[in-house]
Amino acid sequence: MLIDTHTHLFDDRFRHDLPAVLDRAAAAGVERVVCLGIDLASSQQSVAIANQYPQVVAAVGIQPNHAAEATADDWEAIVRLAEREPQVVAIGETGLDRYWDRTPLAVQQDYFARHIELAQRLNKPFVIHCREAEADVLNMLRPFAAQGPLRAVMHSFSGDWATAKVCLDWGLYISFAGMVTYPTAHNLRAVAKDVPLERLLVETDCPYLAPQPVRGQRNEPAYVVHTAACLAQVKNVPLPELAEQTTRNARELLGLANER
Ligand code: NI
Repeated sequence: MLIDTHTHLFDDRFRHDLPAVLDRAAAAGVERVVCLGIDLASSQQSVAIANQYPQVVAAVGIQPNHAAEATADDWEAIVRLAEREPQVVAIGETGLDRYWDRTPLAVQQDYFARHIELAQRLNKPFVIHCREAEADVLNMLRPFAAQGPLRAVMHSFSGDWATAKVCLDWGLYISFAGMVTYPTAHNLRAVAKDVPLERLLVETDCPYLAPQPVRGQRNEPAYVVHTAACLAQVKNVPLPELAEQTTRNARELLGLANER
């Protein structure tokens, strides 16, 4: 069994066939799918999808690229969803993004801190988006990490080993998406090889960035199998073992009951 720890099932590309997408996920052995909001509307949609489909759980948050357009009311509504909706198992996605530059960094940092504080107040994990901002993300996390291990995940990890090492030291999980399967991603696979199995998660980040051999197609939760198979090969462990351990990790991080 596998858990796809990062998806955006509210995306328009799933509008016509979400039940079939989730059936294919189940058939591929994906027992759970986490759907994460990127702004208020998509956070509300993520909760609605989680309420409708038992295999889906939700996370709510305002992604850094959407923080510029978020209002105070939007944030209050995110907080209420996190406080009141039982299917909300995590806060995010949050983090920092220097690639798109759609939100001033100070605003991104303000929202990142709010998400971390909300997660800690509600005793939920938080989900970190980090794009070309590794040093800034570590600087944000450092004061929180000084108080104890962080209950969080670096999603779709694309940094170097030095960054991964600090994250691991601070208690974070490291999640890999389809990018790790790409032929040229030698450096990322070298990082993945050294991440302890007990701290590894898998995700699709669908509908984006489908893994080999389905690269270029719309990504969907069933395809997380390809990323898991790549990581099993990189780490030289049988796929069932990698699947079982990453699923155990995801349940631990997200506070999910054992389904079996
Ligand atoms: Ni995402």
